[in-house]
Amino acid sequence: MSVVIILLALAAILVLKCWQSLWDFLRKVKLSRTLKGPSPRELIKQIRKGEILNWLRVLRQRYGPIFCIWFGTDLSVFLTDPEDVKIVLGGSRSIFTSKNYNILEPWLGKGLLTSSGELWHSRRKMLTPAFHFKMLAEFKQPMEDNCNILIEKLKEKANGEAFDIYPYITLLALDIICETAMGIKKNAQLQSTSEYVTAVQNMCRISHRQSFSPWKRIAFLYRFTEDFKERNHALDILHGETNRVIAMRRSSLKTSNIQTLADAANTIDESGVKKRLAFLDILLLAQAEGADLTDVDIREEVDTFMFEGHDTTSSALAFAIYLLSQNKAAQQKAFEEAVALEGKEKDTMKYLEAVIKETLRLYPSVPFYKRIMIEDVAIRDLHVPRGTSINLLAYVVHREEKYFPEPDRFQPERFLVDENKLHPYAFIAFSAGPRNCIGQKFAMLELKCTLSNILRAYELLPVEGFVPLPLAELVIKSGNGIQVRLRKR
Ligand code: HEM
Repeated sequence: MSVVIILLALAAILVLKCWQSLWDFLRKVKLSRTLKGPSPRELIKQIRKGEILNWLRVLRQRYGPIFCIWFGTDLSVFLTDPEDVKIVLGGSRSIFTSKNYNILEPWLGKGLLTSSGELWHSRRKMLTPAFHFKMLAEFKQPMEDNCNILIEKLKEKANGEAFDIYPYITLLALDIICETAMGIKKNAQLQSTSEYVTAVQNMCRISHRQSFSPWKRIAFLYRFTEDFKERNHALDILHGETNRVIAMRRSSLKTSNIQTLADAANTIDESGVKKRLAFLDILLLAQAEGADLTDVDIREEVDTFMFEGHDTTSSALAFAIYLLSQNKAAQQKAFEEAVALEGKEKDTMKYLEAVIKETLRLYPSVPFYKRIMIEDVAIRDLHVPRGTSINLLAYVVHREEKYFPEPDRFQPERFLVDENKLHPYAFIAFSAGPRNCIGQKFAMLELKCTLSNILRAYELLPVEGFVPLPLAELVIKSGNGIQVRLRKR
């Protein structure tokens, strides 16, 4: 008798769960009836062509500021108007990432980018001090040292001939994140390629393909694909490198007799300065002091920050160089400022800052990102049910004519006007709200240091006929590299 009761109870739970999922699904179907969007066939055709970004702009023109696409049984709603973006990013609802980020979990696990809820909240609180603006002064010198290596390396290319600057930039960005955040001198720039950088690029490409393919998102089928093999190979390289970085830093802390956060606070270095704690030190010492952090947790955070901390800035730097090479007047102004305010990148350089923002407006390093709603939300006259995936299309938001007249024109002056005049959600390159980019200030400093050093050393010249081919592989990349010519100043 008791077995029958248990079976009945289990059956009731199952029915309830299925009913809940069915109910949520029916509510999404209802929403999709009130919204327009392209057919799955058009989506597949565009993915094959690989021109998602421009196609999203076409969809915005065709369907208006909100549209939707079905990915299998998942409904994705796309937002392009800052007023709608504000509803999603502005509130605490936005701390939950979309389940589509699961694709990144074999690589980044439950690191800051991919986690949600309480886990995300406690990690964000722990890691925020590592990127606080007070830390910027500490980052400046290692950034400068690595820029000097770049300037030296670029000498071999400063002959006025066209070349792709992207590989130089990615090695620089990798060296900077390793030295500042991990406390490790990597010297990737002293080699011509990096296995790690190539593995990140492959991983981004494979994950992007998987996120847009309904059948590659089925774990069982994915195992039989070439992508799966390629992904596992990339994962071996990526995790091997992060494990190596962690082991090196652990041993360096041991040698300096630093076992706790208090030890670090009391340690003065040779120049009489209090010991600086790298991001990785905070994790390692918190673990040593008994925080709930396993070795795998630490590796996941290191993977997250190594990726987010170098791939995004590489993209921004490369596109800024391209845009400056094409816009002589803007380059001249930025150059004059870089000369006049040399060394003051942390505190000022307003024009260069505007150049960087304008670059990120046209080519946002993360061209779109997602949230999954944990409760129902009203957007305009639409009732968006809990569980719907919301896509925030930074690439399209940034080209809304109402907020940015002549949106395709590179015009840094847009960001020199009174910032209060700009809608707070019209420029969302670093996202906004509680889950915005934790490395935003770090990134701005790195971009300012690198660009001002390059501008002081070289004139950036355009390559006739070259137009980059922006691809959205998680982080925006140019499919045909970044062609530029350099002339020594
Ligand atoms: C130009 C440079 C950068 C841009 C445009 C950028 C942009 C963004 C965007 C749009 C997000 C939100 C992504 C999402 O919600 O899915 C984000 C999150 C994040 N960024 Fe950045 N980022 C940049 C540089 C950096 C750097 C240098 C670091 C680390 C040092 C970093 C670390 C992170 C992390 C850990 C998150 C997840 C934050 C969270 O969910 O709490 N980013 N970034």
